[in-house]
Formats: sequence, structure tokens, C-alpha cells
Amino acid sequence: MAVNSRSGIRRTVPLACRGPDAAPVSNQGKVMPQVIGVPKETAAGEKRVATVPEVVEKLIKLGFGVMVQSGAGDAANCSDDSYRAAGAQIAASAAELWSGADIVFKVGVPTADEAGLMREGGTLLGFVWPAQNPDLMQQLAAKKATVLAIDCLPRVLSRAQKMDALTSQAGVAGYRAVIEAANAFGRFFNGQITAAGKVPPAKVFIAGAGVAGLAAIGTAAGLGAIVRANDTRAEVADQVVSLGGEFVKVDYEEEGSGGGGYAKVMSEGFQQAQREMYAKQAREVDVIITTALIPGKPAPRLITAEMVQSMKPGSVIVDMAAERGGNCELTEPGRAVVKHGVTIIGYTDLNSRLAKQSSTLYATNLFRLTEELCKTKDGVINVNMEDDAIRGLTVVKEGGITWPPPPIQLPAAPPKPAAAAKPAEKKGHGHGGSSEPMSAKALALLFGIGALAFWFVGAYAPPAFLGHFTVFVLACFVGYMVVWNVTPALHTPLMSVTNAISSIICIGALVQVAPPVTEAVGRPGAWILGLAVAGIVLTTINMFGGFAVTRRMLDMFRK
Ligand code: NAI
Repeated sequence: MAVNSRSGIRRTVPLACRGPDAAPVSNQGKVMPQVIGVPKETAAGEKRVATVPEVVEKLIKLGFGVMVQSGAGDAANCSDDSYRAAGAQIAASAAELWSGADIVFKVGVPTADEAGLMREGGTLLGFVWPAQNPDLMQQLAAKKATVLAIDCLPRVLSRAQKMDALTSQAGVAGYRAVIEAANAFGRFFNGQITAAGKVPPAKVFIAGAGVAGLAAIGTAAGLGAIVRANDTRAEVADQVVSLGGEFVKVDYEEEGSGGGGYAKVMSEGFQQAQREMYAKQAREVDVIITTALIPGKPAPRLITAEMVQSMKPGSVIVDMAAERGGNCELTEPGRAVVKHGVTIIGYTDLNSRLAKQSSTLYATNLFRLTEELCKTKDGVINVNMEDDAIRGLTVVKEGGITWPPPPIQLPAAPPKPAAAAKPAEKKGHGHGGSSEPMSAKALALLFGIGALAFWFVGAYAPPAFLGHFTVFVLACFVGYMVVWNVTPALHTPLMSVTNAISSIICIGALVQVAPPVTEAVGRPGAWILGLAVAGIVLTTINMFGGFAVTRRMLDMFRK
């Protein structure tokens, strides 16, 4: 018997499933590493598994023991032997797995039977959907369990992205939706010119450009289709374009963002205008992939029976929102049907249709969460309720229901500059210039001093110097006007400054190599000519190199 210090529960720990780095098992109540258990998923058609052998090794390095139910990874191409090789112990049955694990990693929401198998005081990590499963929440609380619902992760926290399983799974599903569409579609996605004739590219319309929608846009564009997309949140337009799609706007002005990156229910006027636009797209395109979703609401109905009827025979609709009622009126959840000559795919298991990929990403999300829970790397988790991300997804803590969490206090947005301060800011250009406007008196004084200095130089300096000096002043002015004003977002601030200096040098050097304007100026010596040529070559490299680097950076955002 050994003691888990956090839960204070005495139990037998299977030695074989502990990692090589694990602390020794003690009979004297010493802290000992916990065991992570991965059961075989029981939901019909679920092929994913909550961890994969590559991640088992990492969990063991964190100090945990890992136990996997026999056959848990079979449908995701992860055999018992591969888990064994990674250091996991194989449990023969679900009962052995659930009773032997301190922490259970799961994909699907546990059934009442599974929750019944759970050890008192155990921890569960996985999808729970607490609002939809109040009975399960009560059952887990009665078990004095601690439950971390991955679906409750606060997605507004950027540091939570690595743990965001909703995003990783939606990304895979968006990709698979395009593959399913391509499979059901009778033509190429890309345009081709062959000896047998010219084939036009397929036109794909994506409704909803959230995580799944954006993944679908990238995949369809990658296959060579013409991709169009629409979303009620106008801010996603740039993302659509950067993935190779065209954003199609609804001809109606209304802000569609409901906060936190999610949509809101739109007004009747907007919906009418949107229906007209969708009807037009339905007549034109070959494939429609719908991903529109408003959290906590049934999926918005975007594709009507008439729109389906107006599509070309052989067209395909993939309705990703099938499980939430569907974005298309004719969708049958879980099935592919042909209506009015259009194949309508309502599969709700797109992730299981890419089980290895979905499992690997999900396992990594859970591993990142485990890292956050075990910063001491001693194989014992600490559910720190002071941490916003951990607090957000902890729905039951040691038997007490802690859902819903309090709203997250995001750092206040930087105050917007007052309208009156705007012209002054423009002067600074973000290059360290003062944002204080110069008073008219000070400006006049500065000009006065400048003019006096110029008169002094003109009156006493030799004519050759005057020529150089004029060129220098002009080069400074032209360099400043041409390059310094470039928006720092396009050129990094450093590049715009160095390019400004380069252009000053280049203009000065060009003047040196050019034939003299007047006899008085004279021809520069060989040394000066040599230096001027070297200056032109080096600054040209710097300037063109800068543009080339900028171009490469911009290309990284283009497909
Ligand atoms: P998300 O919340 O990131 O994206 C939904 C998008 O729909 C948002 O950008 C939102 O602004 C947009 N939207 C909402 N109402 C709209 C309207 N009336 N018109 C146009 N756009 C609208 O959701 P995510 O993660 O991308 O998931 C998309 C859908 O895919 C969900 O319904 C989800 O349940 C489903 N899904 C289905 C799977 C399957 O196997 N079938 C697997 C994974 C996700």
C-alpha cells in the first residue's frame, strides 16, 4: 500500500507502469508519482484514443506512470506493443484500468458506467460538457473526483492555445470535411489543361470561418479549388484571404462578433440579406462546406431546401454542424444522403475518420495541460485554482462542483489615444520622435537658426564644400521623405531607419561618381571615387536585401 499525498488515499500502485525516473515506492506514506490511465473509448464509432505512444514517453519523463487498456489504441493505429515499448503498462480490462489510475485521460464524455468505475478521489481529464451533463457532474462529485473539462478551457488566454483540444480537433475535422467532399465530388478540385480537354477548377464555398472553416479553406485552396467564404464576424476576412480564399460579404452592415472570438445571433434584416447571398453562391459553386456555429445555440439554418435544389447535379454539401441540428435543412446527422442530385454529408465523426492524427494532437493537448499541472516534474499533479487557465477548466474539485468559473479578468486594453493627440502621434512615426507638437514659435526659431547657419556656411565656406553640403542636405531630406515615412508594420522600424541611412549614403555616393556640375567643384580623386563606388554597391545590397527579406516575410502569410 502507498499513499498519494494530495488525495490522502491509500492504494496499491502497480510498479510496472511507473517510469524509470519515478520516485521510489514507499510504504511509509512518502509522496509517490501518480498513474495516468487511458481507457478504451466506448462511444459507438469513436476511434480516437486519449494518448499515443510518443506522448507516453513524455508523460513518463514528467515522472508519471502510464497504464493503457488493452486495445485502446487499435483503431488509431497504436498497438498494445507500441504502448508497452514506450513504457506503459497494459491493463486487461476497463475495471482494472479505472481502479488502478489516479488520473484518467479520456476523449469522449464518460458514461455513467465508466464514472461508476472511477476510483474515489481520482482525477479525470477530457471532454465533459458540464452544461449538457448535469447528472454526470453529480456522479463525479459524489466520487470526490477532480474533473478538468478540456472543453471549458478559456480560449481567450493565448497561453492556453497549446492545450486547446477544441481547436486541434476542429482543425482536423475541417481538413477531413474537404477530403470527404473531394471523395464524393465527381471532378478534380484543381483546374487542368490536358490533351483530352480543359477542366475548370471546382468552386468551393465555406460558410463560417472559425477554426474548422479556416482549416477547410486552406485545404480546399491547397487542392487547387477556387475558394470563397463567409462569416458574420468581419474580422476573419483577412484570415480567409491569407489562406487563399475570397471573403464574400453580406450586403448589410451589422457587427457580428459576440465577444471572445464567437459569433452572435444576427438580426432578421441581416439574415434575409445573408440568405440572398447564400442562394446566389449555391447556384454558382460545386461544393459547400458549412461550419457555422454560435456557442450554446442550435446551428443557424443557412442552406435551405430550395438552395440545395438550385445547385448543379453532382454538387456536394458537407454539413459539419450536423450534430448541432445542421446548417443545411436537408442534412441527416451521421449519414451521407443524395437529395435533388446533391450529396449531403452529415458525418459527426470526422475526427474518428482521421483517428491517428486527431489522437496525436489531442494527446499533445493533454500532455501540455499535464505539464501545467505538474510544474515540479515529480509525477504528482497540483490543481492550482489561482491559475486562470486551470481554474477555467476545473469543473469539479475534490467533490465540490466548481463550474461555472468566474469570468476571467483580462488585462485592460491600452487606452485609446485621444482624438486631439492623433496629429502629434503621426509626427513621431513610431521611430522615437516626440509626440508633443512643436509650438509655432519654436518652429520659427528653429527655421531662423537654420537659415542663419546656412547663410554663414554660404558666406565663408569654400565653393567646393558648399556644393557637397547642398547635396548632403538634399540627400537627408529626400531619404527622410522617401523611406523614413514607410509604415513600420511593413518594414520593421529598424529596416526603415537603416534604409533611410542607406539612401542618404547612396545619393551622396552617386553625386561623387557623376561628372562635376561646375568647374569649381572639380573631379574627386581615385580614393574618393573608389569609396563612392563601394558605398553604392554596399548600400544597394542593403536596400535590395531589405526589400527581399520583407517580401519573403509577406510570402510566409500568403499561400
Ligand atoms: P467556431 O466557433 O470556431 O466557428 C464557427 C464559425 O461560424 C465562427 O467563426 C462564427 O462566427 C461563424 N458563424 C456563426 N454564425 C454564422 C452565420 N449565421 N453565418 C456565417 N457564419 C457564422 O467553431 P469550429 O470549432 O470551427 O467548429 C465548427 C463546427 O464544426 C461546429 O458546429 C462543430 O460542432 C463542428 N465540428 C464537427 C465535427 C464533426 O465531426 N462533424 C468535428 C469538429 C467540429
